[in-house]
Amino acid sequence: MNRAPSVFLVDDDRDLRKAMQQTLELAGFAVSPFPSAAEALAKLDPGFEGVVVSDIRMPGMDGLAFFRRIAELDADLPVILVTGHGDIPMAVQAIQDGVYDFIAKPFAADRLVQSARRAEEKRRLVMENRALRQAAEAASESLPLIGQTPVMERLRQTLRHIADTDVDVLVAGETGSGKEVVATLLHQWSRRRSGNFVALNCGALPETVIESELFGHEPGAFTGAVKKRIGRIEHASGGTLFLDEIEAMPPATQVKMLRVLEAREITPLGTNIVRPVDIRVVAAAKIDLGDPAERGEFREDLYYRLNVVTLSIPPLRERREDIPLLFSHFLKRASERFGREVPEISAMVRDHLMTHGWPGNVRELSHFAERVALGVEANPGKSAAPPVPSNGTLPERLERYEADILKEALTAHRGDVRETLQALGIPRKTFYDKLQRHGINRADYGRGAEES
Ligand SMILES: Nc1ncnc2c1ncn2[C@@H]1O[C@H](COP(=O)(O)OP(=O)(O)OP(=O)(O)O)[C@@H](O)[C@H]1O
Ligand SMILES: [Mg+2]
Repeated sequence: MNRAPSVFLVDDDRDLRKAMQQTLELAGFAVSPFPSAAEALAKLDPGFEGVVVSDIRMPGMDGLAFFRRIAELDADLPVILVTGHGDIPMAVQAIQDGVYDFIAKPFAADRLVQSARRAEEKRRLVMENRALRQAAEAASESLPLIGQTPVMERLRQTLRHIADTDVDVLVAGETGSGKEVVATLLHQWSRRRSGNFVALNCGALPETVIESELFGHEPGAFTGAVKKRIGRIEHASGGTLFLDEIEAMPPATQVKMLRVLEAREITPLGTNIVRPVDIRVVAAAKIDLGDPAERGEFREDLYYRLNVVTLSIPPLRERREDIPLLFSHFLKRASERFGREVPEISAMVRDHLMTHGWPGNVRELSHFAERVALGVEANPGKSAAPPVPSNGTLPERLERYEADILKEALTAHRGDVRETLQALGIPRKTFYDKLQRHGINRADYGRGAEES
C-alpha cells in the first residue's frame, strides 16, 4: 500500500503536459502521461488506485466526455479537469455531475498539487473500504472465526488438526475473545457434530444446582428432586461437553469432574448406578490456570487433566490488525439485521477502532459496530465522559458525577455487569455498593437477567 500515489495525466499540449507532470512528480506522484483521452482510457481499469487529471479542450474525446466514460467505469474515481477558458457555467455543471475539481489555467503549481493530494486521499479511503468489505465478505462466507493475523491463522490450523480427535481441550482467553466460538468449531469440525453440543456455565449456577445439572439425579435424591433427571454429561454423550468458566467450578464438583474425565463414566446423584459416557470435554477459562497464583481454588490435578491441549486466544489489543476486518464484518451483519445501508466509516470511528483498548474484546467490538450501524455512535470516545456538574459543593458534585459515569457505563454496555465492571475497572462489590448508594437499578439498563 505504500507505493507512490499515481496520477493519469491527459493533455494534448506537449509542453503543458510536461510541466504538469514535473509539478506532480516533484510532489511525489507517479505520473502516467497521455496525449489523448482515448489512450488513457485504454489503460485505465476500475480498480485504479490513483486519480485522473485531464485537460478539457482536446481533439477527439474532450475532457467532459472522458469524465463520463470514467464515471461509467468507476463512479468513485476522482477526476480533476483543467481548462484554459474560464468557463464558469461549465465548471459548475461539471462539479454537479461529479467531477472532483475544476482548475482554471493559468494556475499555481500548488493549486494542482493540493487538489491531487485531496483527491488521492479520498480515493485511498474508498479503496480501503472496498478492500475491507470484500475481505469481510470472503471471511464471513467461509469462516465463523475471523482473523488474518498469524496467531489466528495458527489457531484455525490447530483447530482443524485436533477437532476430529477425542482429546480434551482447554480454551483460555479474556472475556469476549471467542472461547465459545472455538468450542463450537471443535464440535462442528469433528465427527461428534451429529451428537449434542452441551454447554454449562460453571460460574452461573449455584453450587447446589451444578452437580445435579452435570450428573443428573433419581427421584428423591435430594429435597425437591421429584422427577428423574438426565445430567448434562450424559446428554453430551456422543457429542461435546462445553464447561464454560471452569475456574468457577466449586471445589467439590472439581473432584467429581476429575473422576469423570479419567473414568469416562458418571453416577447420577442418589444412585449407585455407573453409566459410561462418550464425551469430549472442552473447558473455557478466563484466567491462566497454569499460574498457581491465578489458579486459586482450582485443583492442580484437574488442571493437568484438562491441559492436554490448551488453546490460548490472544486479546484483541494484541492482534489489532484483525480489528478492521472484524469490524466491517460486524458492521455489515448489523446493518443487514437493522435493514440499513452499511454506513461509511468516519474518521472518528476509524480512530476509535485503532486507539481503543477493547477490554471486552471481540464482543465489545461487535456491540460497537451495532451502535455505528444504528448511527448512535457518531462520536466515539467522547460519549464516555458525561458533563461535569457545575453547581453544589465539591462532594455533591463528585457524587453526581460518579452516578452519571455509572449510568453512562451501564448504558454503553446495556446492563452487562461483566463488561461494565471491566470498563470501569472496579471490583464487583464496590460496583454493587455504588449502585445501591446512588439508587441505580441495573435492570433498567437492558438485559439484566444474566447475573444475579
Ligand atoms: N474471531 C472471531 N470472529 C468472529 N466473531 C467472533 C470472533 N471471536 C469472537 N466473536 C464473536 O464475539 C462474541 C463473543 O465471543 P465468545 O462468546 O466466543 O467469547 P468468550 O470468550 O466465550 O467470552 P466470555 O468469556 O465472556 O464468555 C460472539 O458474538 C462471537 O460470535
Ligand atoms: Mg463464553
